Amino acid sequence: MARLNDHFLKLKAGYLFPEIARRVRVFCEAHPEPAQRLIRCGIGDVTEPLPPAVIAAMHRAVDEMAVRETFHGYGPEQGYAWLRAAISQNDFRARGCDVADDEIFVSDGTKCDTGNILDIFGPGNKIAISDPVYPVYVDTNVMAGHTGAANEAGAYARLVYLPCRPANGFVPAPPGRHVDLVYLCSPNNPTGAAATREQLAAWVSYAREHKAVILFDAAYEAYITDPALPHSIYEVPGALECAIEFRSFSKGGGFTGVRCAFTVVPKTLQAQTRSGEFHPLHPLWLRRTTTKFNGVSYISQRGAEVLYSPEGQAQARAVIARYMSNAKILREGVTKAGLKTFGGVNAPYLWVRAPKGVGSWQAFDKILNEANVVVTPGSGFGARGEGYFRLSAFNTRANAEETARRLRELRW
Ligand code: MLT
Repeated sequence: MARLNDHFLKLKAGYLFPEIARRVRVFCEAHPEPAQRLIRCGIGDVTEPLPPAVIAAMHRAVDEMAVRETFHGYGPEQGYAWLRAAISQNDFRARGCDVADDEIFVSDGTKCDTGNILDIFGPGNKIAISDPVYPVYVDTNVMAGHTGAANEAGAYARLVYLPCRPANGFVPAPPGRHVDLVYLCSPNNPTGAAATREQLAAWVSYAREHKAVILFDAAYEAYITDPALPHSIYEVPGALECAIEFRSFSKGGGFTGVRCAFTVVPKTLQAQTRSGEFHPLHPLWLRRTTTKFNGVSYISQRGAEVLYSPEGQAQARAVIARYMSNAKILREGVTKAGLKTFGGVNAPYLWVRAPKGVGSWQAFDKILNEANVVVTPGSGFGARGEGYFRLSAFNTRANAEETARRLRELRW
């Protein structure tokens, strides 16, 4: 008899977004008319078309694929050299971060990479996550057997939870105990908080002292509006020895349906073998990538490359600015509705406190049924998300204005 991976049976409920989609489907079937006015501010999926420069580059790439002389079959598993060079130059060296082209691994998504990275870490690591947190970090560790079982409240025995609250600005400080791996996400999904240079420096210093590795998810860095905030953890001296960074073209370039992202694994980053010797992680990730992955499509990579051209940059920035004006409209609307709101300034997410005594799923149901707006219940991101809901600013202007209006009119 084949044995399954028992760790999957420790997962709590379904993955958050399919569960929301299921509830929304039930609502739409039961209420055909309100369903017509439904506005989706739940999953953070882009709504605006790809920048014209990306479309043109992808069309050119398709034309190349149509001719034997310029056709591309398998590409390098870790990405084409021209894209890796554009990334390391523009995203890192231009900001003073000493990242080499071959430390960039092009992939099909940050969600996949933050899960896949666990392949190169052994069992027994003490793992810290924020609470609330992007659920992928938790669930992939459960699947890999790193967490132990969950208690009644859904907390896993072997994870270290770092509470994120208004009092710490939703940015956790390093714990007073040892951990080996820590996930940091800035700008943060779901709270919209962004870490300052000093806050990241505290984590880098902790990681170096504890020989820990920081898994730094910067998928939303393009949404930072405050020029003082770091876009990469490598802007902090010493981070190249203790951090892996994940980036994506999904939110910054509108690529959620195209698929292209990348992970930076510095050659100076090491971890310990079972017998206690230090060994670089870069060759392990290279080996893993070349064994389990055949690279992102040539067409997608050509589309991503053009995002570094002046034209591509200007067009992508204009779309981001549009989403951020939506965030402002939503912030004003929710604030006028008397609800305490965080985020939405350096991130496309608003983290909203439901009225006292109203739970996250209760807020979700009320907003769905009475305002016909889909939000994301905060408790889906962890116990400390209870009592909050997340609003995504990825939408059209008309929908953002209408959502703000409906939330203002909602009576709790
Ligand atoms: C979200 O809504 O949290 C994101 O869209 C999920 C993701 O990027 O995977």
